[in-house]
Amino acid sequence: MGVNVGILCVCVVLFMAIQAIEVVAKAAPMDSILENKNIFKRKRSRPPSLSRPIDYTFKLPTAPTSWPEGKGFAGGVLDLGGLQVSQASTFRKVWGAYDGGPDNQGTSVYEPIGIPEGFSMLGSYSQPNNKPLFGYVLVAKDVSSSSANSTLKPPVDYTIVSNTASIKATQDSILYIWLPIAPNGYKALGHVVTTTPDKPPLDKIMCVRSDLTNQCGSSSWIWGSNDFNFYDGRPINRGTQAPDVRIGTFIAQNGGNTNPPSVSCLKNLNSISKIMPNQKQIEAILQVYSPTLYLHSDEEYLPSSVNWFFSNGALLYKKGEESNPVPIQQNGTNLPQDPNIDGAYWLDLPSDNANKDRVKKGNLQSAESYVHVKPMSGGTFTDIAMWIFYPFNGPGRAKVKFLDIKLGKIGEHVGDWEHVTLRVSNLDGKLWHVYFSQHGSGSWVDSSQLEFQNDSTKRPVVYASLHGHATYPHAGLVLLGKNGVGARDDTDKGRNVMDMGKFVLVSADYLGSVKEPAWLNFFRGWGPHVDYSLDDELKNVEKLLPGKLKDGFESIIRGLPKEVLAEEGPTGPKAKNNWSGDEV
Ligand SMILES: *[C@@H]1O[C@H](CO)[C@@H](O)[C@H](O)[C@H]1NC(C)=O
Ligand SMILES: *[C@@H]1O[C@H](CO)[C@@H](O)[C@H](O)[C@H]1NC(C)=O
Ligand SMILES: *[C@@H]1O[C@H](CO)[C@@H](O)[C@H](O)[C@H]1NC(C)=O
Ligand SMILES: *[C@@H]1O[C@H](CO)[C@@H](O)[C@H](O)[C@H]1NC(C)=O
Repeated sequence: MGVNVGILCVCVVLFMAIQAIEVVAKAAPMDSILENKNIFKRKRSRPPSLSRPIDYTFKLPTAPTSWPEGKGFAGGVLDLGGLQVSQASTFRKVWGAYDGGPDNQGTSVYEPIGIPEGFSMLGSYSQPNNKPLFGYVLVAKDVSSSSANSTLKPPVDYTIVSNTASIKATQDSILYIWLPIAPNGYKALGHVVTTTPDKPPLDKIMCVRSDLTNQCGSSSWIWGSNDFNFYDGRPINRGTQAPDVRIGTFIAQNGGNTNPPSVSCLKNLNSISKIMPNQKQIEAILQVYSPTLYLHSDEEYLPSSVNWFFSNGALLYKKGEESNPVPIQQNGTNLPQDPNIDGAYWLDLPSDNANKDRVKKGNLQSAESYVHVKPMSGGTFTDIAMWIFYPFNGPGRAKVKFLDIKLGKIGEHVGDWEHVTLRVSNLDGKLWHVYFSQHGSGSWVDSSQLEFQNDSTKRPVVYASLHGHATYPHAGLVLLGKNGVGARDDTDKGRNVMDMGKFVLVSADYLGSVKEPAWLNFFRGWGPHVDYSLDDELKNVEKLLPGKLKDGFESIIRGLPKEVLAEEGPTGPKAKNNWSGDEV
């Protein structure tokens, strides 16, 4: 795949249009979605008969109904402190709009049904129509001892947030969105929706005592127009220590999502590890949901276990003593354990060329995933980060319209850590989302958008991009650039496959019993700082490009995230975003 200079000239004009870096085929950032919202039609009529993804309710291909014995994982309820919550994921559709929203497919709004005896609704559910129906809202039950100071109270009234009459979209009818007015000392957590202008009954929904609530933020955009929008609600405080709980209800907001939402999120006043899975349950979860990882068919740089890397000649270097590197012991027991990232030490491949080239290629047979288990969303979810180690990250490749260009040494580095994170509900034991790491950042994908193995395991499928090993839910090309020019991430179903179910549990603070391997607490570089000059490499590549292409090409490459250029030197899992926080 060399550079064909003759064809290159054709692209000159198009190439001039390049202005900035964007990642195509990834979730578009909120701003760009907002810009694309003037797409509503004027007519209001019956819904088109066209079927949409939302008409189908997504079900995981496997969802165990029994788990190894434990203390409440997947038991259906969690007591947040006088307030029990449970997950309702059976819905009755109240209303639909058939354009606007992501992919201009419209949105649907639902009420939870089949709410367990004694539980009450806290809000309604909405999602864009471009995905199968797959969501939940928490419902709640007062289990406090004091009836005078109960954890739930009905609203005292409602106020109208807005209705959809002025929104130019094909919709079932006008939808009225109500905000419950909570009694003093209580907060509303979601909306009631109606298709008539009459206020809903006061016993329709419950408000929650303020000490069990915290600030909510709006995240992904569901639907709306410039001055009235629906968003997904999620807590502002997120991470392994944060008690804040996502409810799953949608938030309707006048204006954009810059104002704080009018509804609150929940807060867990009990221990957030109360119904986290125990070790046997973690094993059972991974038995069902461990991804199968497909390496690219042209991939030369495969994963390995860290112990294979160590015992095959990897070396520990100390600054100032570069001529005297030392071998690394099993589990990295001789690696510095202080949490500094200062360039005082680093790892590298074996120094003799034969072993260097051999170790670079990895060793798929030994490869295993390194598992970090942590509570999320106030202990209502378990995040299982599964880390994969590759001894070497191959050079980058670029695309200039229909041309493929090798980027010399750009992007190459020793020691590449990648991960995917499974987000499993502690209430129903189901896999709801998977995070895919991509060049120091990444994206969350709903389970309904995953591929699953077409075999008896029915496990989720993950693809690793050629050379860079970024993880993706689907095969194909993702371009880190703009207007058909940029660095390319290619994925396909190659013959080399890693079963991520072969795992080692390396960290789970809440269990108190997992001994972390020494290599996990090595915070410095798993490879040396890059030994190439970006300037020189760019010059080499540009020799092959006609004059007018050079500037645009160069600005694109220089504008790539530092993780793609690998100039920083790769750090281990604990030094990466986001070991203890939420991922993005
Ligand atoms: C109700 O409980 C909350 C939280 O424990 C407390 O802050 C508040 O003072 C209580 N109110 C009454 C009237 O007892
Ligand atoms: C799944 O496997 C079955 C049996 O091997 C086969 O008939 C079917 O076509 C496969 N489906 C897909 C989508 O590959
Ligand atoms: C250290 O390595 C050995 C051999 O690979 C392994 O059996 C053992 O469990 C490891 N210990 C830790 C703490 O990772
Ligand atoms: C990591 O998580 C924390 C806590 O959720 C968050 O504040 C921070 O922005 C996250 N960092 C990245 C890069 O996502």
